[in-house]
Amino acid sequence: MAKKITASEYVREVGRPIFQSREFQDVKNQKHHLRSTVGSHSRRVAIMCAFFCDCLSRAGVETQKEELVKAALCHDLGMQGRYSHRYSSGRDIIRNHPLNSSEEAGKLLGGLTDLQREAIEKHMWPMCPDRSIHHKETALMTIADKLCAIVDPLCK
Ligand SMILES: [Fe+2]
Ligand SMILES: [Fe+2]
Repeated sequence: MAKKITASEYVREVGRPIFQSREFQDVKNQKHHLRSTVGSHSRRVAIMCAFFCDCLSRAGVETQKEELVKAALCHDLGMQGRYSHRYSSGRDIIRNHPLNSSEEAGKLLGGLTDLQREAIEKHMWPMCPDRSIHHKETALMTIADKLCAIVDPLCK
């Protein structure tokens, strides 16, 4: 029987090209949620998403784990330039960074699936113009993002 890998090991494997990419390197050290960074936050969100998928699988609910993990690693790429030129206010960041992240992620991943686009563009749910959700993975992403935002200030 193949050895089960942890959610963290899974993210390390699946996310290797993303971690090594210029897009991720550009934003990974940017401060996010007080003591954390976009890089460590995104990694935590991806691990939590993978963990949720594993739990659901054990309960007989299948998910698109790899697609979701890749989207989670890219969901805040649009935060690049947050403290300089890109956004004019906190409200501007909340509204537009998911869309900019989606655009960056599309370039990095060579296009996005419908699931990935929705998960990234609606990760700030319910603070998004269209609150409809069509993929369960989007719900997992928004829950993981919020839980990580709670622990981020305690972590680096
Ligand atoms: Fe975000
Ligand atoms: Fe986030």
